[in-house]
Amino acid sequence: MIASPFSFASFAFRVLLAVRGEQFFSLAGQADVIYSNSVAFAAKKTDGSVVTWGASCCGGDSSSVSGQLTDVDVIYATQYAFAAKKTDGSVVTWGASFYSGNSSSVSGQLTDVDVIYATLYAFAAKKTDGSVVAWAHSDGGDSSSVSGQLTDVDVIYSTERAFAAKKTDGSVVTWGGSSHGGDSSSVSGQLTDVDVIYATWFAFAAKKTDGSVVTWGDFHDGGDSSSVSGQLTDVDVIYATQQAFAAKKTDGSVVTWGASCCGGNSSSVSGQLTDVDVIYANSVAFAAKKTDGSVVTWGASYGGGDSSSVSGQLTDVDVIYATQQAFAAKKTDGSVVTWGGSSYGGDSSSVSGQLTDVDVIYATWFAFAAKKTNGSVVTWGNPSYGGDSSSVSGQLTDVDVIYATWYAFAAKKTDGTVVTWGDSLSGGDSSSVSFEVPASV
Ligand SMILES: *[C@@H]1O[C@H](CO)[C@@H](O)[C@H](O)[C@H]1NC(C)=O
Ligand SMILES: *[C@@H]1O[C@H](CO)[C@@H](O)[C@H](O)[C@H]1NC(C)=O
Ligand SMILES: *[C@@H]1O[C@H](CO)[C@@H](O)[C@H](O)[C@H]1NC(C)=O
Repeated sequence: MIASPFSFASFAFRVLLAVRGEQFFSLAGQADVIYSNSVAFAAKKTDGSVVTWGASCCGGDSSSVSGQLTDVDVIYATQYAFAAKKTDGSVVTWGASFYSGNSSSVSGQLTDVDVIYATLYAFAAKKTDGSVVAWAHSDGGDSSSVSGQLTDVDVIYSTERAFAAKKTDGSVVTWGGSSHGGDSSSVSGQLTDVDVIYATWFAFAAKKTDGSVVTWGDFHDGGDSSSVSGQLTDVDVIYATQQAFAAKKTDGSVVTWGASCCGGNSSSVSGQLTDVDVIYANSVAFAAKKTDGSVVTWGASYGGGDSSSVSGQLTDVDVIYATQQAFAAKKTDGSVVTWGGSSYGGDSSSVSGQLTDVDVIYATWFAFAAKKTNGSVVTWGNPSYGGDSSSVSGQLTDVDVIYATWYAFAAKKTDGTVVTWGDSLSGGDSSSVSFEVPASV
């Protein structure tokens, strides 16, 4: 192995930091994949180590476990904590204890972990033998009432505060907040041959292999589908806002239920909901892209449910992106059309001239960031939460992928370095971490 001058510089820099008593951070490796919770980022580096930044209470400070953050495979998140699965199947957690950042009570059981799932508060780790270990917060963190049933688990789904585990035999086991879907006793006889489970923040909808649907959880927010049960046949895919469901049937029609404020009532557009291809959702509204590239919206008018102001432009739509209360449609020609709450990115007039040749759009809860095909980035929406990237605009070149917390963006460049902007307390300030720049040849 040949030591490069850079690695000596890196070593010297670390020693300098250690001498100055500053938080240790590793320069070794470029950013590989960046993960986020609501207020912090965790970047897995190419060498399997992890660096974090953002709210120090809540995942941005991993110094207490940094020595254990090696050979990391995948990182998962609750609202204010992280869990890193290592390549040996062990798990390291950090962040707010109340949000499952402290796994010491189950650390002996966190071996041979396959996949980790999360509510906003709790983690549940599925082990390679199909068993499940959940920990910390009571809303999903305590699976003791069903632990005897948590065998042969295939996939786990979650609402804000409850889990639903689909077993390999098509049955379902639930636990966590009873008003959030943790109690499925009212429909347990129907939870057989389940194919996929979908969730609002408060309720679950299980699509069965025969195309029928079973719902449970909060009555108003999707848990009660009795008003449309006769129509819930031949269901293909189900989509969800925070409080309502929309089921696309195999014939391209759509059935909705749940809170009428927020997408549960589509009667005003039911005549247009034919030949639907894909449905997109933000927290309060739906946008259905039809096979001809047109778009039909419903739900909260302030949050994107009313697209009448741009309906003439909603043709040849390719993909739709969403903040909490706005939508951005990328057209096949690379242009972008936005609507919904103006403080959520629904108004892109200030950057419309720059929204050409757009490749992919990313979103915080309040702002959009469009990556163009030439690797530059255009942002709009709430300026405090990602909509204003002027402080880093000179660095936003050769961008590869953009990641987001609820309030800030992190752009990974093709050289493996990272540029951040948005709320500085929620991930927008990454000055405490560094990434190695590969030596130019
Ligand atoms: C984690 O929880 C354990 C109790 O389960 C406690 O003893 C320990 O101090 C906690 N660690 C932190 C960092 O809060
Ligand atoms: C759905 O909205 C329509 C108006 O678009 C209204 O007439 C109807 O009563 C609503 N249905 C429910 C169940 O709220
Ligand atoms: C990308 O294209 C925009 C115009 O669409 C231009 O202003 C910008 O300078 C280009 N960026 C790079 C890095 O070429």
